[in-house]
Amino acid sequence: MKSTCIKQVKARQIFDSRANPTVEVDIILESGIIGRGLVPSGASTGKFEAIELRDDDISKLSGKSVLTAVRNVNEIIAPQLIGKDVLDQAALDHLLIELDGTPNKARLGANGILGVSMAAAWAGANAENIPLYRYLGGANARMLPVPMIQIIGGGKHAGQTIDIQDYLVIPAGANSFSEAIEMVINVYHATRKVFIERGKPISVADEGGFWPTFVSNTEGLDLLVAGIEKAGYRPGEEIAIALDIASSHFYQDGQYCFALENRKMTPEEFADVLVSWVNKYPILSIEDGMAEDDWDGWKHLSAKLKSRIQLIGDDLFVTNVDRIQQGLDKDVANGVLIKPNQIGTITETLEAIEFTKNAGYLPIISARSGETEDAMIVHLAIATAAGQLKVGSVARSERTAKWNEGLRIEEQLGASGIYPGKALYRRILNTR
Ligand code: PGA
Ligand code: ZN
Repeated sequence: MKSTCIKQVKARQIFDSRANPTVEVDIILESGIIGRGLVPSGASTGKFEAIELRDDDISKLSGKSVLTAVRNVNEIIAPQLIGKDVLDQAALDHLLIELDGTPNKARLGANGILGVSMAAAWAGANAENIPLYRYLGGANARMLPVPMIQIIGGGKHAGQTIDIQDYLVIPAGANSFSEAIEMVINVYHATRKVFIERGKPISVADEGGFWPTFVSNTEGLDLLVAGIEKAGYRPGEEIAIALDIASSHFYQDGQYCFALENRKMTPEEFADVLVSWVNKYPILSIEDGMAEDDWDGWKHLSAKLKSRIQLIGDDLFVTNVDRIQQGLDKDVANGVLIKPNQIGTITETLEAIEFTKNAGYLPIISARSGETEDAMIVHLAIATAAGQLKVGSVARSERTAKWNEGLRIEEQLGASGIYPGKALYRRILNTR
């Protein structure tokens, strides 16, 4: 038997950064080499995502245990994978899709399936004795991502104290990945000082960004601009602002409802609010500005902003080629958030990235709000030359696990590494 053939597949329940159960899978090869995949988990999930299987037994871990998903890996998937060559990632992933047999991985669970797929990729890279970004991306994989980093949390990641979910920065004006991270670290600490000066309590939300105690959603934008300036950068020049509105979560009966401001808006009115923010603040990117099923709202927003800023679909596209195709047909958005657990296998994730790039849209590889110490997504971003990576903040180890891995890879690439910076956005925008 070939040394890269799978000898054993072992899943177990572990815990994520929010103290919730999640799946971990080990794949052990004939050679004894191991690959391990740790599966992340969202809180602000889109309704079209692949199914994350939880036991729903309220007597155990508030119903969140994942023992069925673990059992499905150990009892149904594992026997089918024994003896297969781990280097054939696409064939393994297609076998997983077939074994599940549903369009959204509802039978075996996308969490268990992704754990297997990730473990296989890590095992393949370990067996070949090359970094994962090279294993998945080949010899020319050398573009580091522009980071998109949360400074202030909100929405479902901060007890719904404000409506907007993420206030982030994009250090597009940096000259390298390490300079970009250093700039954001400076903004993070400077924003902390601004919070203290303005009498705001210091605490952090789920992804390590500051906890908001605001009277309006725009207060976060004012604070962020103050933080960027206090750190010594020109907002919009060196560091731009990005927002994840996550508007699916406050869209009800055809209206967008800001609970904080006690305000209800039609899709057109809400699009106008976002346009007024883009006019006033140095915003380079808005994610989920409109809800996951409000295609008409998306058309309004896209007609107004598509040529001026990056418009990302997260809940809208859910890393699903069919939904991205619908976006192209309707000419909405120009960016696609890519989260492996929204679709369930590495192969389908790679397909979604490729599809996005071929369409002339920008992919943004993304973590989830519930994360682990697994750093696969930074390798994925570099393997595919995706150009952007979103991982929450620059605090908390499940976040820094990714940024620090990026720093190591940058060092490894040396002079051959590329940081795309502002040039990346010229691919989609008319004005920059
Ligand atoms: P989630 O949020 O991981 O909680 O779904 C992240 C996002 O909306 O981008
Ligand atoms: Zn989002």
